[in-house]
Amino acid sequence: MKTMEINKVEAYKKLKTAVEAVLGEEKDPVVWMATLSCLIRDMLDGIYWVGFYRAEAGGDLAIGPYQGTLACLRIPKGRGACGFAVSQVESVVIPDVEEFSAHISCDSRSRSEIVVPVKDHDGVVRGVLDIDSDSLGRFDEVDRGFLEDLVGLMKRLEWD
Ligand code: SME
Repeated sequence: MKTMEINKVEAYKKLKTAVEAVLGEEKDPVVWMATLSCLIRDMLDGIYWVGFYRAEAGGDLAIGPYQGTLACLRIPKGRGACGFAVSQVESVVIPDVEEFSAHISCDSRSRSEIVVPVKDHDGVVRGVLDIDSDSLGRFDEVDRGFLEDLVGLMKRLEWD
């Protein structure tokens, strides 16, 4: 494994330890979204925006807690990388946003992105975790694996 990848794995291990220590007993989704955004921004390199979009009853996405520059407030159902991830119920790793035609650019600095669906204990998609980088190829399968694991902890939250 390359040094960069080893550093990335170490950063995610530290992030998971912090998440468990800080949010282990917490059940409120807003507390989770705000705190996880903060920890990710603080503990991972090369990220200028991290946050959540919340799924609304009609299928549109509305901005949730985030860290970074001003984001699009709403994303219509099925649109953008976020809507695509919700419709597929699958994470989307985008090494180059210019190669992903559906990408919605909220900030011209965006070069690569990862979106991970957030599910409740019944498997219903409640929103997405979205992370943006100003570097090409910032996200890969290592990121996908660790972020899906972290977001999987949100299944046990009290969503209603
Ligand atoms: N790029 C996203 C929009 C949200 S911003 O990145 C914060 C998308 O294509 O859905």
